[in-house]
This record gives sequence, C-alpha cells and structure tokens, in this order.
Amino acid sequence: MIKRSAIAAALGLTVLAGSAGAATTQAAAPAHVPALVTTTCSACHGPTGVSFVPTFPDLAGQGAPYLIKQINDFRNHTRADPQAKSIMWGMAAAIPANKITEIADYFASQKGAPGAPQNPKLVAAGRALYLGGIASTQLPACAACHGSSGLGVEPLFPRLAGQHQAYVVSQLQYFKAKQRTNDPLQIMQTVAGKLSAKDMQELAAFIRTL
Ligand code: HEC
Ligand code: HEC
Repeated sequence: MIKRSAIAAALGLTVLAGSAGAATTQAAAPAHVPALVTTTCSACHGPTGVSFVPTFPDLAGQGAPYLIKQINDFRNHTRADPQAKSIMWGMAAAIPANKITEIADYFASQKGAPGAPQNPKLVAAGRALYLGGIASTQLPACAACHGSSGLGVEPLFPRLAGQHQAYVVSQLQYFKAKQRTNDPLQIMQTVAGKLSAKDMQELAAFIRTL
C-alpha cells in the first residue's frame, strides 16, 4: 500500500502527524443550532446532519475545514458539477459570510453517520480496493488519504465513513468526467479517472459500511 505521507510529499501537501485512521477532532456540540440550519439545510441534510435521501450527503462529523472549503467553493462556483449548480450554489449564496464557520462547526460537532451492512461480495471487493489500491494502474489506496476507517484527516482529506452510496458514486463520476474540479492538484480527478463503474459501486458499498 502506498503511504499517505509519500503521496502527500509528491503532491507537496502537508500532512499532520497522526496516521491513517486517526479520528478528526470533534468539538463539543454547540448549545445553539444556527437558525439557517433549522430553516433550510436540515430539510435535505437531516436534522442530525444525516440525510434520508441517498443523493444528499451526510454532513455530520465531517471536518469543519473541509465543510468551509466546500461552502466557499459553491459560493465562488469552483465546485461546478451538475448537483452543485442546480442545488448548492443557491443554498450557499444564501449563507451570510459571517455565519459560514458557525454552520461548519455545527455539522462537524454532530455524531458521524453510522455504517450500514451491504452486499458482502461488493464490500469485500471494495475493501481490497480501498485499502490496497491497484498496483498495475497505479491507483493509490483511498486509505492513504482518507484513513483506513474513512474518518478523514483534517484539514484536506474529507471523512467518507458511512456516506451514502449514491452520493459517493455521483462524486466519483463527477471527478472522473471532470465536472467536479475543485480538488487540490486534481488529485481526485486523477484517482477517479482510474476507476471503472464497477470499482465505484464496490468502493461505495464498502464506504457505506464504515
Ligand atoms: C434542496 C436540498 C439541499 C439543501 C436545502 C441544502 N443542501 Fe447542501 N447539498 C445538497 C446536495 C444535493 C449536495 C451535493 C452537491 C454536489 O453533488 O455537488 C449538497 C452538498 C453540500 C455540501 C458538500 C458536502 C460534501 O461532502 O462535499 C455542504 C457543505 C452543504 N451541502 C451544506 C449545506 C448547507 C450549509 C445548507 C443550508 C444553508 C445546505 N447544504 C442546504 C442538497 C441540499
Ligand atoms: C492523494 C490523496 C487522495 C487519495 C489517494 C484519494 N483521495 Fe479522495 N479526496 C482527496 C481530497 C483532497 C478530497 C477533497 C477534494 C476537495 O477539496 O473538494 C477528496 C474527496 C473525495 C470524495 C468527495 C467527498 C465528498 O464528501 O464530497 C470522495 C467520494 C473520495 N474522495 C473518494 C475517494 C476514493 C474512493 C479513493 C480511492 C479510490 C480516494 N478518494 C483516494 C484526496 C484523496
């Protein structure tokens, strides 16, 4: 398996101490829920940050720096895949600039989405890809950046653990098709470019169990 530090060095990224699988630091839950979350965001992302609709991502337990980056990327239109354009550009534009950090901290403090059992064959294949990559096509292990338990590594690498399969597949397709291009150094466009449709289904099934 390729080491995250090696990949990060090759990319010129700084990786914090703490190895693959290290949990992101979770702040204590703020007593107060930002008003916009209750009136707007919860309708799609769920009152606990865990959504009921598989194409809407869970936000609970996601790293605050990643959430802030995404909200800003929607606002300045650097995240421009079809679902971003049609749904999140408008939502993000409605967030007052001085509320972005508060909203990100709120979702980051929520308990991450629980895993769910999936088809064992898909899960086994997905686990092998996720932890080991594919040497012949130089596909790096996802675990090298996202952690072996999918908990992510702040500030750059998002949590994937428990995320909805349909959402994960949609993002991998968007990266592969170069419709989502807000990833630093095109890293996810390169990674997803090496994935087949079958690989994506297997990876998403495994990620959902984490
Ligand atoms: C109508 C449904 C809907 C509402 C309301 C909504 N979102 Fe979203 N949100 C989505 C969808 C769909 C995506 C996936 C966008 C994509 O594929 O690029 C998303 C993505 C996101 C992401 C990126 C998550 C990731 O893992 O990359 C963040 C952050 C986010 N929304 C925050 C918010 C906030 C904050 C609000 C309230 C102001 C909000 N959303 C309201 C549907 C919604
Ligand atoms: C070299 C590091 C690296 C590797 C290896 C890597 N990723 Fe990523 N991944 C990232 C970064 C950085 C982002 C955040 C991009 C951004 O800022 O928008 C990301 C984002 C994602 C997202 C979008 C998350 C969201 O909430 O929208 C998914 C899904 C994803 N990666 C899946 C994978 C899978 C599956 C693999 C293995 C096949 C993998 N990644 C390998 C660095 C990596």
